[in-house]
Amino acid sequence: MRDFDEHNITAAVVERLADTSDPRLKQILTSLVHHLHAFARDARLSFTEWSYAIDFLTRTGHICSDKRQEFILLSDTLGLSMLVDAIDHPASAGATESTVLGPFYVTSAPELRLGSDISGGLRGEPLYVEGTVSSSDGRPLADAVVDTWHSDDEGFYDVQRPDLSTAALRGRFRTDANGRFYFWSIVPRFYPIPDDGPVGEMLKATARHPFRPAHVHFMISSRGHDTLVTHVFSADSPYLDSDAVFGVKNDLIREFTHEPPGTAPDGKIIEQPWRRLSYDFGLKQARAPAAHR
Ligand SMILES: [Fe+2]
Repeated sequence: MRDFDEHNITAAVVERLADTSDPRLKQILTSLVHHLHAFARDARLSFTEWSYAIDFLTRTGHICSDKRQEFILLSDTLGLSMLVDAIDHPASAGATESTVLGPFYVTSAPELRLGSDISGGLRGEPLYVEGTVSSSDGRPLADAVVDTWHSDDEGFYDVQRPDLSTAALRGRFRTDANGRFYFWSIVPRFYPIPDDGPVGEMLKATARHPFRPAHVHFMISSRGHDTLVTHVFSADSPYLDSDAVFGVKNDLIREFTHEPPGTAPDGKIIEQPWRRLSYDFGLKQARAPAAHR
């Protein structure tokens, strides 16, 4: 077939996918072609605008590194990450709600003993984080892996601070026999997502601010359960209603309570006021593997 025009090109491209052997890949690519073409028709896209988009995506790729993931930011700020999360992780009784992974997770966080301090010597208000991990039926989960990471009291993650040579404000813990975990850190601050790249250009061009409300990230896994990726947001933070990446859910907001000097729950004597974050997480039991896999 030749002589493709605005009206027959879409069917021709879809037809070219006919021999794709993986049925799921064929379904995804067919849908992608239909929607991309529909987008170009709907927006009446000019060649100059299409070229700009190619350049924008090229620059988005070029600014990525092992410490910066601009494509995740782009997905997050367009609401696509939360849409995929909503589709793939629907709410379920007894299970904690999920939210975006974000661009600051690293796979190499140190594994630490319960009660450790992950602040890495950074200054800030002491924060005691504690909670439990249970299955959605209420059974406590021992030996669950609790991966956590958050910003400092100026709103920066360790990977954004060139003065730090080791990990800070991140760590990996295992729950005890009763499904409990606890550790010390400092209170995180709200922060702007990195806005000196293509995503920042988009935010400025659309009169959007880049801020996220203060939160602590968690990735929690346990055998026989879906891995939970979520945050707990501080109830007194600004931007809870205008998170730049659309990640806030009411059930994920908690008071980081103000506590007086004295003996902390883990027996530590603390001579200054401190804050306490408690959250009990529920993990969804894993779905049975799909029959065709
Ligand atoms: Fe974050």
